[in-house]
Amino acid sequence: MYHSPIQVNGLSLLFPQKVCFEDFTATVECGTRIAVIGRNGSGKSTLLKILHGAFEPSSGSVKIPPNVVCGYVPQVAEKFDACSGSQRFQRALTEALSRDPNLLLLDEPTNHLDGDNRRSLMRMLQSYGGTLIVVSHDAELLRSCVRTLWHVDGGKIKIFTGTYDDYIREIGMQRLAVEEKLAQLERQKMEMHGALMREQRRAAKSKSIGEKNVKRRKWLPVVAHDKANGAEKAAGKKRVAIDLKKRKFAESLANLQLPEVILPKFSLPAAGSGNHTILSIVGGSVGRRSAPILLAGINFSLRFGERMAILGKNGSGKSTLAGAILCDPDIVKSGNWSVPRSGDIGYLDQHYGTLRAEDSAFAAIAEVAPQLSHGEVRKHLAAFLFRKNEEVECQISQLSGGEKARLSLARIAAKPPKLLILDEITNNLDLETREHVIQILKNFRGAMIVISHDGDFLERVGVCSGYRVGEN
Ligand SMILES: Nc1ncnc2c1ncn2[C@@H]1O[C@H](COP(=O)(O)OP(=O)(O)OP(=O)(O)O)[C@@H](O)[C@H]1O
Ligand SMILES: [Mg+2]
Repeated sequence: MYHSPIQVNGLSLLFPQKVCFEDFTATVECGTRIAVIGRNGSGKSTLLKILHGAFEPSSGSVKIPPNVVCGYVPQVAEKFDACSGSQRFQRALTEALSRDPNLLLLDEPTNHLDGDNRRSLMRMLQSYGGTLIVVSHDAELLRSCVRTLWHVDGGKIKIFTGTYDDYIREIGMQRLAVEEKLAQLERQKMEMHGALMREQRRAAKSKSIGEKNVKRRKWLPVVAHDKANGAEKAAGKKRVAIDLKKRKFAESLANLQLPEVILPKFSLPAAGSGNHTILSIVGGSVGRRSAPILLAGINFSLRFGERMAILGKNGSGKSTLAGAILCDPDIVKSGNWSVPRSGDIGYLDQHYGTLRAEDSAFAAIAEVAPQLSHGEVRKHLAAFLFRKNEEVECQISQLSGGEKARLSLARIAAKPPKLLILDEITNNLDLETREHVIQILKNFRGAMIVISHDGDFLERVGVCSGYRVGEN
């Protein structure tokens, strides 16, 4: 199992539209358990690819000793196309483990897993004796499986040794200290402003006394000139001192700025209103051509404004059922199906299959909303955090997992649906975006079908009924 330490030296990752991180240096001893955390698009997956030797950094190097055997599982294992998300992951993981690796690189491994599979993965990770570097947004995994954090944030990678909870506490304390310092500087600024005003009033007063004394011939003009000079010099000195203080203040403020957190601002309108039935399935069955009946005896209906979950274990056919509602030509179905036109359904699938790899973010929106002007498309994208020209023109194949999720939501919002079908939507989302998505889904007025293993998400979005598919 042993391997010599891995050396990461002055690693930088820069793209035309952004600096992901610069000058990252670290030594990874054998057996270290590291989680890479950070917001969507911060460069976590690319860092893992660099460590795996599959991506050239902008500068710096990674020295992997020859006795390292590496197992790598990418974000959504792309290789096994015809399988569900969890099956793809399980196969890629099995393949990686078959090499008996002493270095395991995992990118968002819990994304598509149901409760049982999650638990067995966590157990495997806890007992794994090699070096673990895992990218994750999953708090439970971060708590139970790692003791070192690499936080990609603000163009740097910060290393923290300790538990995830220690780190959250530490960040909270740092933030509080900065906020206190800022408040203190703000008070100083007010005081300085007051001192400056008092000084100006005093100077004006002494000048007018001088002028009066000359007028009353109390002082000869020469004396008055000397006195005025003296007063001006004193006032000048005080002003210089105050200016200096002010400059120092501005400098400390610039050094102390809290990192700017840009939050998405999108909303999701619905087409239509009322509470009529928009979907009903009576005696339905679905399957693939190779296995025509995967699920049978499907009976449920949904009204406008209602929301339901499709529940079931990995591989039970949840996505197939969603595909049948969407009239996917690869899915065979029988029974009585009354479903909305596909144009009235907003669909977010777990692999972001509605996006074309070679398109730009701009093209993806312009395609579904041809009525929008160039400026309106840009404005729409900006609400979903695609702001700079390079972000708007970036090829979809180059977007990170979370960015693809955000763009898929932007596409749905550009063409308000009557029914939303969301398949594992919280996978890949960073905490801020996840919170925002929960808020907008709560306010969505149309009908909604959600496939998710994330109980907290379902509850907070207000999904109270569930249709459970095949207990196989
Ligand atoms: N070849 C490329 N050209 C331009 N930009 C790229 C390229 N490859 C990746 N990027 C950008 O680099 C950034 C980092 O991508 P990466 O996939 O590493 O992010 P991440 O931290 O894993 O995000 P997520 O949490 O969403 O998975 C993204 O903004 C992505 O669009
Ligand atoms: Mg990623």
